[in-house]
Amino acid sequence: MGHPLLIYGAGGSGREIAAWASRACWAEVAHDLIGFIDDRAAGDETVHGLPVWPLAVAAARHPGAGVIAAVGDSRLRAALIAAAEATGLISAAPLVHPGVEIDADYVRLGAGVVICPRTVITTDIEVGAHTQINVSCTVMHDTVIGAFATLSPGTCLSGTNRIDDHAFLGTGSVTVNGAPGRPLRIGAGAIIGAGAVVTADVAPGTTVAGVPARVISPGSTNNR
Ligand SMILES: CC(C)(COP(=O)(O)OP(=O)(O)OC[C@H]1O[C@@H](n2cnc3c(N)ncnc32)[C@H](O)[C@@H]1OP(=O)(O)O)[C@@H](O)C(=O)NCCC(=O)NCCS
Repeated sequence: MGHPLLIYGAGGSGREIAAWASRACWAEVAHDLIGFIDDRAAGDETVHGLPVWPLAVAAARHPGAGVIAAVGDSRLRAALIAAAEATGLISAAPLVHPGVEIDADYVRLGAGVVICPRTVITTDIEVGAHTQINVSCTVMHDTVIGAFATLSPGTCLSGTNRIDDHAFLGTGSVTVNGAPGRPLRIGAGAIIGAGAVVTADVAPGTTVAGVPARVISPGSTNNR
């Protein structure tokens, strides 16, 4: 039996993670998914056979349970985690799908990290707290990813990158051109469009898209 786990958010992402969360394990810490948190819930409904509670009810019933927030918007994710921790819930140990190919000896993961099926994480990689790496991503050697970043399905980080906090990489985006001593850098809160090929550093808060990626907005915060 693993540590009790709550997923904050019962939308598409939450239901996808719920499908395998109780099989996830990292550093010999396993999870036992007990329910969802949704602040709009009345407290008596279920989703995929699991109870959905408002935060206060979940925290009262399962004090000390672990929590991850399954929402794509990283600022909302951070706010939900802060609210959950204020009730005594704790950031869950990393959730790594059992089929993920990962060099466990040389990869460090922060609390609340989620790594979904069919992803490959090679070696000498750090991933910050509550970053979400979706299905079928590739993260190659010598890459540092900050906290609350988001890699959408099929993201491919070629070797040597620095991805800062709250960066959002759209579906099928690719980085190239990182080199030893000069990682390709995507700044804090930057947004990478779906299908983009990022060939040069992206400044914080900037939205880029296309092949090769070009700036389409110097300060957008829309990541959906
Ligand atoms: C890049 C993105 C953030 C831009 O969104 P936006 O700020 O609302 O921009 P708009 O839709 O107004 O588009 C602005 C321009 O960029 C172009 N554009 C938008 N997304 C693009 C993309 N992915 N690739 C190439 N061009 C793109 C639009 O065609 C438009 O061009 P125009 O000015 O010549 O008409 C968004 O389109 C995107 O790709 N989001 C990623 C979604 C995703 O992967 N979600 C994962 C869910 S799991």
